[in-house]
Amino acid sequence: MTETRPKPLVRTSDLSKHYPVGRSLLQRRIVHAVEQISLDIFPGETLGIVGESGCGKSTLGRCLVRLTEITSGALEFEGLDITKASQRQLRPIRRQMQMVFQDPAASLNPRRRVGDLLADPFRVHEKLSRSEMMDRVEELLVRVELLPEHAQRFPHEFSGGQRQRIGIARALALRPRLIVADEPVSALDVSIQAQIINLLCDLRDEFNLTYVFIAHDLSVVRQFSSRVAVMYMGSIVETGPVDAIFSAPRHHYTIALRSAVPVPDVDNRPGQRIMLKGDLPSPLDPPSGCRFHTRCVAATSVCRQERPVLSLVDKNHFVACHHPSAG
Ligand SMILES: Nc1ncnc2c1ncn2[C@@H]1O[C@H](COP(=O)(O)OP(=O)(O)OP(=O)(O)O)[C@@H](O)[C@H]1O
Ligand code: SF4
Ligand SMILES: [Mg+2]
Repeated sequence: MTETRPKPLVRTSDLSKHYPVGRSLLQRRIVHAVEQISLDIFPGETLGIVGESGCGKSTLGRCLVRLTEITSGALEFEGLDITKASQRQLRPIRRQMQMVFQDPAASLNPRRRVGDLLADPFRVHEKLSRSEMMDRVEELLVRVELLPEHAQRFPHEFSGGQRQRIGIARALALRPRLIVADEPVSALDVSIQAQIINLLCDLRDEFNLTYVFIAHDLSVVRQFSSRVAVMYMGSIVETGPVDAIFSAPRHHYTIALRSAVPVPDVDNRPGQRIMLKGDLPSPLDPPSGCRFHTRCVAATSVCRQERPVLSLVDKNHFVACHHPSAG
């Protein structure tokens, strides 16, 4: 990192998350969901995380806000090591890092009124009178472009887009510094997606938020992010400023992903679609060396033997590849 950059808000060092699977000890195998990720997230930036289904995006997002225990490596928030912090130690930090989920319906208790759901963070973290709490809830509803009277309704009385607004209001309640948004618009109609993205953009500017924005859809990431990290089988294979990732990607996986972006082609060049050959390998038995070698058009013998590490190729642009493309 260059010396002029501010201190990271979040830093991961060799962070890994493994899930044991299999019923008995003999059958037990390990899913390498996140493997040795070292990542700095700077205040005010929006880091987009992209990659195919199952590459570990949600697991990484959950580790970043310590909703999931970390198997190995370290996690810092504002310079404080919180890798192994207990729930009690995490409490003052928890309010500063929140998550917005893909399916807000699943994270909102259907039997409780929205006003109560939104009051929860104030109950846990702040000592407010009931009327102060309800004032804060109404303020929040208005801020996400809903109505104060919506506090009396139940989650099922809202549309998908409105429920996502409630999910965002809940994440925003305690004025966090970091929001990890895990595919917040993937379950919504395209017409509603833009409204929710616009809301997230407005909130970012108003509350000085730092976002980690997880998405399948590269075009959404392009609109919304300042920096992009591309994941493949649990690792970051390329990260850099959004324009560099889209106009001059260097990793062969990023190049294939980008070519799959629907028309209009990202730089108005004739869209040439590069099909990824082969299926995504099993995370229970990842390929040796570069995890991508089984599908890469540029693979050589060194790729099958040695795991490439992220190296600087341009300003703030890092690639993990033995034979990066010229860009
Ligand atoms: N609780 C769990 N137990 C066992 N394996 C898990 C668990 N959660 C995730 N995994 C596995 O870890 C890997 C990464 O999953 P993850 O949900 O993080 O991927 P993702 O990139 O978010 O995928 P998607 O785009 O489909 O949401 C997958 O192989 C998944 O099956
Ligand atoms: S290291 Fe080798 S296999 Fe991996 S992306 Fe680069 S060229 Fe392809
Ligand atoms: Mg996911």
